[in-house]
Amino acid sequence: MDNAVRPTPAENDPLWWRSAVIYQVYVRSFADGNGDGTGDLAGVRSRLPYLRDLGVDAIWFTPWYASPLADGGYDVSDYRAIHPDFGTLREAELLVQEALELGIRTIVDVVPNHVSEEHAWFRAALAAGPGSPERERFWFHDGLGQDGAGIPTHWVSPFAGETWTRTTNPDGTPGEWYLHLFTPQQPDLNWNHPDVRREHEDILKFWFDRGVAGVRIDSAALLIKDPELAEVPEQPGPGEHPTQDRDELHDVYRAWRAVADSYPGTRVLVGEIWLPEIDRFVQYLRPDEMHTAFNFDFLSRPWDAAELRASIDLTLGAHAPVGAPSTWVLSNHDVTRPVTRYGREDSSFAFLKKRFGVPSDAELGTRRARAAALLTAALPGSLYIYQGDELGLPEVDVPLDRIQDPMHFRSAGIDPGRDGCRVPLPWSGTEPPYGFSAPDGQGATAAPWLPQPSAFADLTVEHQAADPGSMLSLYRAALAVRRAEPGLGDGAFEWLDLGPGVLAFRRPGGFLSITNFGAEPVELPASAELVLSSAALADGGLPRDSTAWLREQPGD
Ligand code: GLC
Repeated sequence: MDNAVRPTPAENDPLWWRSAVIYQVYVRSFADGNGDGTGDLAGVRSRLPYLRDLGVDAIWFTPWYASPLADGGYDVSDYRAIHPDFGTLREAELLVQEALELGIRTIVDVVPNHVSEEHAWFRAALAAGPGSPERERFWFHDGLGQDGAGIPTHWVSPFAGETWTRTTNPDGTPGEWYLHLFTPQQPDLNWNHPDVRREHEDILKFWFDRGVAGVRIDSAALLIKDPELAEVPEQPGPGEHPTQDRDELHDVYRAWRAVADSYPGTRVLVGEIWLPEIDRFVQYLRPDEMHTAFNFDFLSRPWDAAELRASIDLTLGAHAPVGAPSTWVLSNHDVTRPVTRYGREDSSFAFLKKRFGVPSDAELGTRRARAAALLTAALPGSLYIYQGDELGLPEVDVPLDRIQDPMHFRSAGIDPGRDGCRVPLPWSGTEPPYGFSAPDGQGATAAPWLPQPSAFADLTVEHQAADPGSMLSLYRAALAVRRAEPGLGDGAFEWLDLGPGVLAFRRPGGFLSITNFGAEPVELPASAELVLSSAALADGGLPRDSTAWLREQPGD
């Protein structure tokens, strides 16, 4: 199947997002076009044909805006400017157009919960002092006690630690505190303030006007806070958490949906929503709110047939009543790479469990990640692929003195942080930078911003493209089948019972996906034709930890 001849996506296909394959580009680590060791837009533009050949429908770019990079760019100082290390706004505009010419839509990341401490509003707020209108756009508050030294609340950060920092007044005396759910470099905006709402609707328009097809909404369930600053109840009921999933949030997204819907060609809202109750999660996907949200339940589960089946049932069951398609996500720039995760004794994922030195069997992990790639690509809905997963990259042990991620530092060094899944991609060659950086004008390249391990030598795009048994070849083949097969993507789904330890289901058109989690090979239906498998079949049986795709013959 030749991905190169596929048509440009129809501007008038209003449902493109329901079945799309969306590739996540972490710009800093994708490809470096100017040899300075940091990925950039020139690098992405030069590699667009790679993404076309891989067969993706859209790219989601993690934040590419001006930022001090205190949290990898999720600390934005100007939402309308590109980080100078990444390029210029003009280059971003060209990139959006060039991608579209290759049939690839663009999704940008918006970060509404907080800004960078370098953002003009926060600088103005600090300068203007207590009681000023500038401070009302944030959560400035007096401390408790006579001297104001008591922290206003004990809300705990998703990055561990406290969520308030005390300011210093111009005369050097201790001043008000401000709220930051993440790092002190990321002050939280006050979403009760009309300026904040207006500004973000303008930011959406700014990017939609430039042709982007959607936005990924960072920390989407956190924007609204309880103005009473109540502590977190021991067991918060629905909507009772002071910083999460507050009912007023739905109005924000209804307003955003109205902005998106005012543009031609379905511009989508994709939420980053980590919530324990799926019934609350899908409330954000009602027809007048977001289009889709990341399914983190599936990603968090261990490699286990019953667990994954339960997650699939939970997901499909909860999405159906609101009419939204599910998303399938094996990883992103925040979580442990699947190859490493699935090779561990405990293959589930939780931020709080992350530790240094957890052993992982790379061969087993790779085998399972291959099986998971086919399993997820056959499920109904849209599919997300994080850059490097199509190469089977492992989580890298970044040397301690090179770690940059604030999650590591805020955990007092217990959590290795997220840099291990953010290491620059290996494209070609046998030594760092493995083709990541194109030489500058003098023919030189700086070292990549995070060091690449020697294991990358066998995982380059160049190496894998030449090997039909590689992870890259599997992904290319799977996405080509998915594109050609009308029954894949959004649509009907039916479980088949092939016994415990096997997940088997049928999609429209007699398309079957079968994953074997058990030790014994599973016999495949004799009358069905094999389309693709993640591992070689043994005597016609599907070996453990592998997935096969089949097509039932007419008349079966
Ligand atoms: C989201 C991002 C993560 C970031 C955090 C704070 O969870 O995916 O990378 O650190 O929000 O913006």
